[in-house]
Amino acid sequence: MALGSALNHESEDTASPRATPPENAAASSSDIPTSQVAAPLAIISDIHSNFEALTAVLAEIDRRNITRIACLGDVIGYGPNPLECMDLVLQRCEFSLMGNHDFAIFYEPHNFNTAAENAAFWTRSQFENDPETERRNQRWRHLGVMQTRIARDRFIAVHASPRRPINEYIFPDDTYSAPGKIAAIFERVPHLCFVGHTHVPGVFVTDPDFYSPDELAGRYGLTSAKAIVNVGSVGQPRDRDPRASFGILHADSVEFVRVPYDVQTTVEKVQAIDALDNFLGLRLLEGR
Ligand SMILES: [Fe+2]
Repeated sequence: MALGSALNHESEDTASPRATPPENAAASSSDIPTSQVAAPLAIISDIHSNFEALTAVLAEIDRRNITRIACLGDVIGYGPNPLECMDLVLQRCEFSLMGNHDFAIFYEPHNFNTAAENAAFWTRSQFENDPETERRNQRWRHLGVMQTRIARDRFIAVHASPRRPINEYIFPDDTYSAPGKIAAIFERVPHLCFVGHTHVPGVFVTDPDFYSPDELAGRYGLTSAKAIVNVGSVGQPRDRDPRASFGILHADSVEFVRVPYDVQTTVEKVQAIDALDNFLGLRLLEGR
């Protein structure tokens, strides 16, 4: 199903490792109400105009014969191919939520550093200057009707956080430096919530605690316990792993997937565009 008609703060944080994974990591599927069982859903986020990363992730999704894809926003911003990425997301995703970089193009940048703001204004000029009227208008229409929150039977999804869906960061460090913030956010989570925004994949639980995909052996087993799942970033990972990141919601678990892509090509594209700070390319090489 295509979505076309339906419609800075910088994190350098990484997970703080803990020794013991959550008890529900290996839950049996009998814990999950049968009404919740559905076809796998690939969940992508924070593509950031990185065409090489997006096409590599879509190829991996196709290779797994997964037909349903959802996007949590920040399709654009930072990178060199905003129009191509927006068009692919419009074609392939059931929905794409409003991220702070999508907001920046249609409305205005909020709390961006200089490099991010310059990239946002350059991205907006790409949208404005496409000579093909119909295609240009379709993208603007999409930006104008993007939802900030989606609720489904099995989950809710936002770009950033359930209480501030466009801009609030939920950092792994918050589990010990701001436990009250995590508790307040969990009050708005009925069961399972998918987020992006920090570009750091992993699972928040109500203890509060955070578990990286490595600590979970790549898979979080679902139970009736609340969880906030960050699927990481397709186009600008910040957990020191440069491979593109996305998640898959299965009947009884969430799987974390990493996909290598041609980072060097993306870096060279960034360097060839004066309005994009070279750091926006170089950071991709290290996943930071
Ligand atoms: Fe982002």
